[in-house]
Amino acid sequence: QLNVLHKFKGILFSTMSSEELLNSLDSFDAREDDVFLVSYPKSGTHWVAEVIGSIPNAKMTVTSPIEFGDISKFEELKMHSKRRVIPTHLNYDMLPRNIKQNQCKIIYVIRNPKDTAVSLFHYYRDNPNLPCIETWAVFLELFLRGDVVYGSWFDHVLSWEKHKDNKNILIISYEEMKKDLSKSIRKMTTFLDINVSDSEINKIAWKTSFNEMKNNAAKENHDANHTICALTSNRNLVFRKGAVGDWINYFTSKQKRVFDELFTQRMKHSELANHFEDY
Ligand code: A3P
Repeated sequence: QLNVLHKFKGILFSTMSSEELLNSLDSFDAREDDVFLVSYPKSGTHWVAEVIGSIPNAKMTVTSPIEFGDISKFEELKMHSKRRVIPTHLNYDMLPRNIKQNQCKIIYVIRNPKDTAVSLFHYYRDNPNLPCIETWAVFLELFLRGDVVYGSWFDHVLSWEKHKDNKNILIISYEEMKKDLSKSIRKMTTFLDINVSDSEINKIAWKTSFNEMKNNAAKENHDANHTICALTSNRNLVFRKGAVGDWINYFTSKQKRVFDELFTQRMKHSELANHFEDY
């Protein structure tokens, strides 16, 4: 099997994130108006990126992820003259120091972990940049142990939860976007201080619907440098089902019990966990 992942500080990363780059994250120069789009993989990153990229007159560019590439990354990011929206799947502790010091705006996207696990399972199967996985049962064990790209979902969410009340951080969930996309878009534009009319919000909601995005992805030629996720630049791998609750089709009742036990144990002090109770 090809070695497509490597460990850095105990966490698995794609080899498309070079060790040199990961080692030099703290030398990144954040600008005060930078916006970071942060998530654990498969939480709805492309969706939020599309929303932000569709805001009219926002004068922003969505760049490739901060951890994607090699040591020349920061030079490449310097070339952008517009306000940068920089995606990343890094946990809070690995996020470059400068971003925290400058109190840059950060949107953290969360999704219920069972659907996230199922989505990541499919990503492992379909994405040639990830290791081969035999079965769902095998994958679920890796997921629960945190032996997957970007590490444990629990560690990731808990690292961000500590900072959830910072005024420069907006937490948005996949499930609330599914429930009322226009309302979620309004939340984001208000957070970013961008004036947008209701009819423009509705237009963005239409443009960023699952079917619209999926159909557009199928029509585009993909460009290897234009990527939202450090794990692929092929957008056709991203739009799978786009639903809430698909986990029910994968988890056996025993798997659900094991999952819920770990969830209760790891998330017992988490307020964000309340959000997931219904899913
Ligand atoms: P599924 O695999 O469950 O379908 P990310 O962008 O973080 O990689 O997350 C990908 C997940 O978000 C996939 O979930 C994908 O289908 C879903 N997704 C992407 N765009 C979406 C949209 N416009 N509406 C709903 N779900 C979307």
